[in-house]
Amino acid sequence: MSSTIRDYASVRRAIASLLKQPEYDDGSAGPVLVRLAWHSAGTYDASTDTGGSNGAGMRYEAEGGDPANAGLQHARVFLEPVKAAHPWITYSDLWTLAGVEAIKQMGGPDIAWWPGRTDYVDDSKLPPRGRLPDAALGNDHLRAIFYRMGFNDQEIVALSGAHNLGRCHADRSGFDGAWVNNPTRFSNTYFKLMLEREWREKVLDNGVRQYVYYDEDAEEELMMLPTDLALISDKSFRPWVEVYARDKERFFGDFARVFGKLMELGIRRGEKGEVVNTDNLKGGYVS
Ligand code: HEM
Repeated sequence: MSSTIRDYASVRRAIASLLKQPEYDDGSAGPVLVRLAWHSAGTYDASTDTGGSNGAGMRYEAEGGDPANAGLQHARVFLEPVKAAHPWITYSDLWTLAGVEAIKQMGGPDIAWWPGRTDYVDDSKLPPRGRLPDAALGNDHLRAIFYRMGFNDQEIVALSGAHNLGRCHADRSGFDGAWVNNPTRFSNTYFKLMLEREWREKVLDNGVRQYVYYDEDAEEELMMLPTDLALISDKSFRPWVEVYARDKERFFGDFARVFGKLMELGIRRGEKGEVVNTDNLKGGYVS
C-alpha cells in the first residue's frame, strides 16, 4: 500500500492518462487544465498577501462563479477521478500539478513544482472578483494586473505564451477561436504568428471585438485577443515577443521559470520545502 502514500508520480500518471478526450474541444483536456492552474494562482495580490493557489477557493461560488472563471468547471470535473483515486492530495496541489503535468505532456518544458498547499479557505482573505485580466483591455491593465502579482514586463510576455494552447469559447469568455493551428502542442508559434501575420479587427455577433487572420493552409481562422496584440504595440513588451518568436529554447526556459513562480505565489516554504504559512489560512472550509 505504500504507493498510496503521497505518491505524486502516481498523480502525475493519472493526470497524463486523462488528457486525451476525443469528444472535448481539440481532443485534449490539457489546455483547460493549464488555465485552471493559472486562474487558481492569478488572484494573488502581493501587497495584501491574499489570493493565490493555496485554498483552492474556486470550489466555491464566490470565486468559482466569477465570470472570468467560466468554463473551468470542465477542468475540475476532468480531475475528479484523480482526486477520488488519490484522496490525500489537496485540490490546490492537484490543480497546480495538473497544469504543470499537462504542459509537459503537450511537449512543453519541465516546470519545478512543490506540494504542500492546503484546502483551507479563510473567508476574510477571499480574493475579490476582478483580479484576473480582462482580455478586452490593453497594456496599462496588463501591467496593473501582473505587477500586482509581482511580475515584470518580460515575465508578462513569457506567461502570455501559454496562449499557444487551447482556444476561446464564445459561451465562456465571449471570444472565439484558437491562437494557433495545433493548439494541443506547446510551442512558440503564438509569438511568431503575432509578428508575422496581418491581423484584422473583427466584431463577433455577440459584439465582442477580437483580431483574426485566415490561415489558408489550415483553412481555419486564427485569433488574437486585444491583450495579445497589446504586446507588440508596446516598446517594453515587444522586444520579448521578438526574442521568444525566434528562440524557442529561450521561451521554454523562461516560461518554465515564470509558470513555476506563478504556482508559488503566496506560498512560503521552510528549509525543507514545507509550506510554513498555513496558519493564516485556518479559517476553515467555506460552504
Ligand atoms: C484562454 C485571457 C493570460 C492560459 C483564455 C481565454 C481568454 C484569456 C479570454 C479564453 C477563455 C475561454 O473562452 O474559454 C487571458 C488574458 C491574459 C491571459 C487577458 C492576460 C495576459 C494567460 C496566462 C496563462 C493563460 C498567464 C497561463 C500561463 C490560457 C489557456 C487558455 C486560455 C491555456 C485556453 C483554455 C482552453 O482551451 O479552454 N485566456 N489570458 N492565459 N488562457 Fe489566457
